[in-house]
Amino acid sequence: MKITVPKHIGFIMDGNGRWAKKRLLPRSLGHREGVKALKRVIDACIDYGVEYVTVYTFSTENWNRPKKEVDALMNLIREFKDKDFKNEFNKPVRVRFIGNIDGLPDDIATAVKEVELSSKDVKDFCLVIALNYGAKDEIVHACNKMRETGVVATNENIGDYLYTAGIPDPDLIVRTGGEKRLSNFLLLQSAYAEFEFLDVLWPDMDKKDVAQIMKDYSKRERKYGRVK
Ligand code: FPP
Repeated sequence: MKITVPKHIGFIMDGNGRWAKKRLLPRSLGHREGVKALKRVIDACIDYGVEYVTVYTFSTENWNRPKKEVDALMNLIREFKDKDFKNEFNKPVRVRFIGNIDGLPDDIATAVKEVELSSKDVKDFCLVIALNYGAKDEIVHACNKMRETGVVATNENIGDYLYTAGIPDPDLIVRTGGEKRLSNFLLLQSAYAEFEFLDVLWPDMDKKDVAQIMKDYSKRERKYGRVK
């Protein structure tokens, strides 16, 4: 079968908590295992030739989780920023962040800018980390920016004011963990995306799941509102 590789995949990494609960472990360990799965998935995507992967790491609604869990997630992000993005994955990786970065703890907001700057010249693959991200927040932010600068919104220019400016829209959104919803992730950008919902819990994701995603995507016929 001929495989069609999506240029950009968005992942909603759901199921970390349930993965931990099944093993009588704290939820934070599920998230830690989730970072390992992230590496496996990114490496597999790089091998297929995917150019952009966006991962939903922390939503604007996740602040409502117990403080212990929020702190554990922030600490994972602190550890992640210390990684060497030239050697962490199968190929050097550019890292971009989308979301309300100024609303994060100061040390993380500073680190985000440093990681973006230090990896900005990498060309082949971009990992987009949605952090303190919510699509409604993103749209409000874009509307306010347009009003401040006196720009009239059009179908063509709205994308330039979203956090994802310069990043092509996702071709495919994948949600693990069995739920079938978008949870405020890339609402505008996924207007014509394909969707894949997997029962596998995020920490269990591996290469063969990515292979299955590629096969399923290759069967889709994308019409963008037109007739074939
Ligand atoms: C949803 O699972 C997952 C999250 C809210 C966090 C995802 C974060 C990671 C995988 C860590 C990534 C970190 C970096 C540094 C990129 P859930 O907790 O809602 O799972 P549940 O539905 O089973 O409770």
